Amino acid sequence: MTLGGRGARRGSSLSNLGLIEDGALLLRDGLIAAAGTRTEVEAQPEARAAEKLDLGGRLALPGFVDSHTHLIHAASRAEEYELKIAGATYEEIARKGGGILNSVKKLRAATGADLKKRALAALKLFAAYGTTTVEAKSGYGLDVTSELKILRLHKELAKEQPLEIVSTFLGAHVVPAEYRGKTGGAERYIQLIEQNLLPEIGENRLAEFCDVFCDRGAFSVEQSKHVLQAGRQWGLVPRLHAEQLSRTGAARLAILMRAASCDHLEHVNKNDIRALGKSETVATLLPGCDFHLGLKQYAPARALIEAGAVVSLATDYNPGTSPTLSMPMILSLACTQLRMTPAEAITAATINAAYSLGREKSIGSLEVGKQADIAVFEVADYREIPYYFGVNRCWMTVKRGRVIHAAEQAAI
Ligand code: NIG
Ligand code: FE
Repeated sequence: MTLGGRGARRGSSLSNLGLIEDGALLLRDGLIAAAGTRTEVEAQPEARAAEKLDLGGRLALPGFVDSHTHLIHAASRAEEYELKIAGATYEEIARKGGGILNSVKKLRAATGADLKKRALAALKLFAAYGTTTVEAKSGYGLDVTSELKILRLHKELAKEQPLEIVSTFLGAHVVPAEYRGKTGGAERYIQLIEQNLLPEIGENRLAEFCDVFCDRGAFSVEQSKHVLQAGRQWGLVPRLHAEQLSRTGAARLAILMRAASCDHLEHVNKNDIRALGKSETVATLLPGCDFHLGLKQYAPARALIEAGAVVSLATDYNPGTSPTLSMPMILSLACTQLRMTPAEAITAATINAAYSLGREKSIGSLEVGKQADIAVFEVADYREIPYYFGVNRCWMTVKRGRVIHAAEQAAI
């Protein structure tokens, strides 16, 4: 399955998987040197001397690109999970000091070494489920020291383990406790972001993107615009948490700001859908959140696809709303809850996700010149990837030509 093409996929092109029966790849220096049928690839002079890896007729596809995660956090919030099951809403828990502020407290108390250990273990699991690139957001520090600590960890992790890490600054996740209850508290915190955090992040290239949680209980559209504009001055490309808990106009802001992506979108209206259909801003859907929170209103994926939006999917791996790091599980939810077809879901999780991270030229499809980032699944048919929900059929994961995960039964 090649998913050929370097651009964003919209409408019916979301269904073109570029399936090749009895396919093969020739890899050189971590890149794809040839792709096609086995006969075509074996006819290449270079193929004769190449080391062979037989996938035994299994399905190879581009490694998943998880374009929305909150990778660095100190602990789970299993205690809140139980409150939610008993009927408390996400926002009620947050108002009582739980939610994001609960994770902030835990992160500030954690050592860098502990955070790193937890993230490394998570990254191994991402790879085990077929993911080869992970976007990672800060946002559980919310003070200068802790936010920078997270962003520096992104950099270290990118160097010290095989998965590609794309760093996003989410200093404007919520207003931290020490700024609450004071007049102009949110504005003063935004000032801290602008004056004390962004210059350091920009000068040391600690992030590529700037994100804001623009919603009820977090930041307003005006405040979000201010933060994204400030980020842009330091070279950070905007992306946005938009229309998750309520409709605020955040998706329109994302389009206006030419954001790379706006994510969640459970509460978009008809005009938002139309506008997203005409824009380059990716509509990243995160059905894991609604599933975990037990919410019934999923994002209107079908309407977005019909309007022509560049639809993508991600896990939103985080301790509050979506503690999964399994892209195959997200594909299952996309199929049954968002009514996307398995083919659309796979495209959304690979080439469109790569596009949302500005990496459509190097990852997201199996084509000559791109990185050899490959997920191999133990399935007879690509539809079985979402079909076997909650079960991991990933047999092998390859990043830049190197095997980084192999299921136990794989003899390598
Ligand atoms: O994407 N909505 C904002 N941020 C996260 C949740 C963070 C948390 O609850 O810890 C999300 O859903
Ligand atoms: Fe998120």
